[in-house]
Amino acid sequence: MDKIAVIGLGYVGLPLARLLATKYPVLGYDLSQERVVALKKGHDATLEVSQALLESVLNTKESPKGLTLSHEARSLEGHDVFIITVPTPVDDQKAPDLSALTQASLTVGGYLKKGAVVVYESTVYPGATEEVCLPILEKASGLKYNTDFYLGYSPERINPGDKTRSIEDIMKVTSGSTPEVAQKIDQLYGSVITAGTYMAPSIKVAEAAKVIENAQRDINIAFVNELKQIFDLMQIDTNEVLAAAKTKWNFLDFYPGLVGGHCIVVDPYYLAHKAKQLGHDPQVILSGRRVNDSMAEYHGKKIIEMLKTSALDPSNSRILVLGLSFKANVPDLRNSKVIDLIDYLKCRCMTVEVLDPMVEAHAAQALCGFDLESMEHCLGTEYDLVVHAVGHDAFKELKFYTKFDYRW
Ligand SMILES: NC(=O)c1ccc[n+]([C@@H]2O[C@H](COP(=O)([O-])OP(=O)(O)OC[C@H]3O[C@@H](n4cnc5c(N)ncnc54)[C@H](O)[C@@H]3O)[C@@H](O)[C@H]2O)c1
Repeated sequence: MDKIAVIGLGYVGLPLARLLATKYPVLGYDLSQERVVALKKGHDATLEVSQALLESVLNTKESPKGLTLSHEARSLEGHDVFIITVPTPVDDQKAPDLSALTQASLTVGGYLKKGAVVVYESTVYPGATEEVCLPILEKASGLKYNTDFYLGYSPERINPGDKTRSIEDIMKVTSGSTPEVAQKIDQLYGSVITAGTYMAPSIKVAEAAKVIENAQRDINIAFVNELKQIFDLMQIDTNEVLAAAKTKWNFLDFYPGLVGGHCIVVDPYYLAHKAKQLGHDPQVILSGRRVNDSMAEYHGKKIIEMLKTSALDPSNSRILVLGLSFKANVPDLRNSKVIDLIDYLKCRCMTVEVLDPMVEAHAAQALCGFDLESMEHCLGTEYDLVVHAVGHDAFKELKFYTKFDYRW
């Protein structure tokens, strides 16, 4: 039985390692000792894997399958399949930051043995696996590509916070550097993904398929965000327009909102980067980004306008923002545009309070420099305006004292 190592135990890596461990011996390796120590105790701060599910695969030493966790690179020794699930953010210039990917490749390269397969799951631009990661693996291992070791790419498509579609319920795209390896990788994923697999004809096709999923979503949301701005000028309710329009079978179901997180606001830049490198100016992709990135300020201005037209002085108003994370039912603050909206309001309003029971207080303090309010405090306080920023289930059925509600 192949020994599998999953490198990077975040939103993507941990659910995958847990699932594979139900059938195979799996090493979960992460640079962060803190993360590994918490996981060993059954605590997943991303809330993607429950304690019971995690513990059900941990500590099965007497069994050939199960999950072992480590923050020490030497534990990678002796593995046959390496699956790399490390972050691929953008830098300050919105250019791909491949440093975690190249670092992970360097580490894995040091432990490659003949016959090993390295599968990348991190989102990249088409070509990155073979152009950027492959040379690092070859150099670090001294082994020859497609003779001594092989590559694969299988993009992750999980939807954090979505408890109805777990990793095994989402069809997985697979690919490999030779037909035989592609088959082997496809069978490996097929053995745990109940929704099945789709074997792409090449690594580049699989890379491209992933990056366009999120770029397409970004553009579609940008379109409805632009509609929102137009219909606001016409004093038409955008959600009412969308409800009417979607009665046609081929009208796409998207809603206006703040677009944040680690994927949709990042991946289009990966595609744009590669396009520009090849001399193409990706106008649609980047205009979608611009529209979505402008929405926090747009809503900030609308909120101030709403207060003023209601004869409320913003500099004397008390506002409550419901939700801080980048989307509903997750604690993830990465690229949350609610933070931009709060910054905008804080410069103009007397009091802006924030409630988010999903987010850990220290994470909000570390990233944003303010404290979250308690549920008890917010339910007992009278506000001028409540911004319904993130639709966490925990907010359903709750009633806050407020003169106005603001929704997008
Ligand atoms: N979060 C999502 O919803 C989602 C969905 C699909 C695809 N993706 C893609 O999957 C990849 C991973 O995203 P994520 O959200 O799981 O990231 P994450 O930040 O949640 O987790 C990454 C983990 O990797 C660890 N790590 C970083 N560098 C490492 C290294 N060199 N060696 C070992 N461990 C290392 C970090 O400590 C962290 O625990 C990204 O490319 C992302 O675009 C994410």
